[in-house]
Amino acid sequence: MELTATIMKPVLYSCLLFSFWLLSFLSFCEAADRQGEILHKLLTSGRSEKSRISSSPDEIDALPGQPDGVDFDQYAGYVTVDQKAGRALFYYLVESPPNSSSNNPLILSLNGGPGCSSLGYGAMSELGPFRVNSDGQTLFRNDFAWNNVANVIFLESPAGVGFSYSNTSSDYDNAGDTTTAIDTYTFLVNWLERFTQYKSRAFFIAGESYAGHYVPQLASTILYNNENTNQTVINLKGIAVGNGLLDEAITLRGIYDNFWTHALNSDETYKGIHKYCDFANDTVSEKCFDFTGQADDEIGDIDIYNIYAAICLDSSLKNGSHGSVHDFDPCTDYFVENYLNIPEVQNALHANQTEWTHCSGDKDGRVPVAATRYSLNVLKLGVKKGWHAWYSEKEVGGYVVKEDWHWLQ
Ligand SMILES: *[C@@H]1O[C@H](CO)[C@@H](O)[C@H](O)[C@H]1NC(C)=O
Ligand SMILES: *[C@@H]1O[C@H](CO)[C@@H](O)[C@H](O)[C@H]1NC(C)=O
Ligand SMILES: *[C@@H]1O[C@H](CO)[C@@H](O)[C@H](O)[C@H]1NC(C)=O
Ligand SMILES: *[C@@H]1O[C@H](CO)[C@@H](O)[C@H](O)[C@H]1NC(C)=O
Ligand SMILES: *[C@@H]1O[C@H](CO)[C@@H](O)[C@H](O)[C@H]1NC(C)=O
Ligand SMILES: *[C@@H]1O[C@H](CO)[C@@H](O)[C@H](O)[C@H]1NC(C)=O
Repeated sequence: MELTATIMKPVLYSCLLFSFWLLSFLSFCEAADRQGEILHKLLTSGRSEKSRISSSPDEIDALPGQPDGVDFDQYAGYVTVDQKAGRALFYYLVESPPNSSSNNPLILSLNGGPGCSSLGYGAMSELGPFRVNSDGQTLFRNDFAWNNVANVIFLESPAGVGFSYSNTSSDYDNAGDTTTAIDTYTFLVNWLERFTQYKSRAFFIAGESYAGHYVPQLASTILYNNENTNQTVINLKGIAVGNGLLDEAITLRGIYDNFWTHALNSDETYKGIHKYCDFANDTVSEKCFDFTGQADDEIGDIDIYNIYAAICLDSSLKNGSHGSVHDFDPCTDYFVENYLNIPEVQNALHANQTEWTHCSGDKDGRVPVAATRYSLNVLKLGVKKGWHAWYSEKEVGGYVVKEDWHWLQ
């Protein structure tokens, strides 16, 4: 059964493109944040369901170059979200190992951009079960993969990203936050018809960067439809956003403040930006333009997504070195891009034979914690438990502040 898009409540925001402000950073695409630990907080109960699908055309036999001893099932394929337009979204599902709890939750993992692939970033460089070795052809295990404790769907969204496509090319120009939320909702409803054992499973949406827009907007669409139909169509239990873009003006303030507090910018530039830039104003003053340009120059050639990491100096493929999750290779993007363009890999994934790239769009907001803080402050959620460290074993894993999330209930 395929569901056609129904009219949804207008979602919270509606800007696909960043305005002028971020154009100077358009060569970058996505943040490789290491925030998977937040997830543990979210993994609560599910209902007990035992059924596993015995065979499905979407089941992946094995990914080329995958290591021995893979103890979980993988699926990939297309789900049509608009039959008339011929629009289909590509997903990759990794289940948890059969010997782990059978009612592990279902998580939809979304990367940002807008227009960047959750397969290339989320699955292959961040929280998926495999990373690509520097030969661009073989895979190694990620011990910290989220599918150790959950079943994770990586979705390439909207159509035009990665393997997802539309037979109506104008769809690519007309995509926006609202259509993305509706398409993703339609994807989920249709996907659950294919994987019925997940229908009442506890469901979470997680995302980072521009998914700071995607995640709450999808959540709002799900809640609206559950309410409107008097049915728990999708059993949404929670959302997680890491370094998310919630508000553009606030994020820009956070970006430049973060540059200064991390000694990437001079006092002069910092003061100039504070004096001349009103990021809420779409018309940029000349002075502000100069100072933001100066900020960009001062930073130099570093990895803006991980300011303490090395940058990729030699993107060529190298044989013989086995990668490790403990030692992130800054050239990972090149290895992933090579891997996902191997015809046998595209075959194994049931994907179209096509030239795969990480991002279709070309805008990205790098979203520092300063911006997250400013954004959370705007929500005025009310602090339930103040800023405190959380621990993994005896090591500080990070810092957390517990706030009231009435608005989502
Ligand atoms: C897109 O067009 C091709 C060729 O006609 C067709 O096989 C395919 O099913 C279409 N895709 C969708 C999602 O309808
Ligand atoms: C599942 O089995 C594998 C292989 O036997 C083992 O390494 C792993 O620890 C087991 N996981 C759980 C959650 O029991
Ligand atoms: C949902 O429930 C409300 C209250 O019981 C009822 O008024 C409404 O008609 C129901 N809507 C649908 C679509 O069944
Ligand atoms: C926005 O910026 C322009 C150019 O600097 C300025 O003329 C205008 O007054 C500003 N608008 C607001 C609402 O501050
Ligand atoms: C790596 O080794 C394989 C197998 O020997 C060979 O086919 C491939 O060309 C080599 N790749 C590079 C980048 O040297
Ligand atoms: C993608 O693959 C589907 C199914 O294999 C096919 O029907 C469709 O035409 C392909 N789309 C493109 C854009 O190649």
